[in-house]
Amino acid sequence: MNRSTSGAYDRLGLLDIAGGCIVPTPSTDLRAMTLGDLDDVCAIETELFPTPWSRQAFEADLKRSPPTLALIVEEQGHVVGYIIGWIIEDEFHIGNMAVTGSRQRQGIAKRLLAEGIRTACERGVRLATLEVRSSNEGAIALYERYGFRPVAIRRGYYTDNGEDAIVMLAEVAE
Ligand SMILES: CC(C)(COP(=O)(O)OP(=O)(O)OC[C@H]1O[C@@H](n2cnc3c(N)ncnc32)[C@H](O)[C@@H]1OP(=O)(O)O)[C@@H](O)C(=O)NCCC(=O)NCCS
Repeated sequence: MNRSTSGAYDRLGLLDIAGGCIVPTPSTDLRAMTLGDLDDVCAIETELFPTPWSRQAFEADLKRSPPTLALIVEEQGHVVGYIIGWIIEDEFHIGNMAVTGSRQRQGIAKRLLAEGIRTACERGVRLATLEVRSSNEGAIALYERYGFRPVAIRRGYYTDNGEDAIVMLAEVAE
């Protein structure tokens, strides 16, 4: 992590303080998503989303060049959470993030967000953006806690129920 990245982390609250030193959250079970993870990933999509991403959509993203930034946290050989996003110029656009229900509120999304943003910053990213359903209070609370702020509304963005999307943005590099 370079100096400007750690400064942005500090500001976003994505670093843990341990023994007076700032250290990244542990990442031993956090790694890049592969095609072999897609059974687990698609099961979590079906569990959590009314209109889950298809397996083909994930496959296409993992085969892109340069590849999509996609990370998972795994436990006992199974994916329990993931983040996926695209780097477009100096922007990291987070397309999806999810943590299986039984493992929510245990800091997994925080770790995925921290590592996703750290990796994106190493590739020259300055802004992180995302869209979230206006009714998704939990996800909005998560993003706001880590420095994202609402910047726009996309009216009727979600075609399954016509719900609005809130566009959120965080400045991740100084
Ligand atoms: C949103 C989601 C990814 C959060 O994952 P998570 O691993 O439970 O989040 P974390 O444990 O890292 O949460 C970190 C902090 O974010 C905030 N937060 C997370 N979920 C929250 C919720 N449901 N309500 C309020 N605050 C929440 C809290 O401040 C939390 O810290 P705390 O538990 O100490 O209070 C998860 O709830 C999920 O997968 N939801 C369904 C899919 C989804 O909506 N994805 C987002 C699409 S944009």
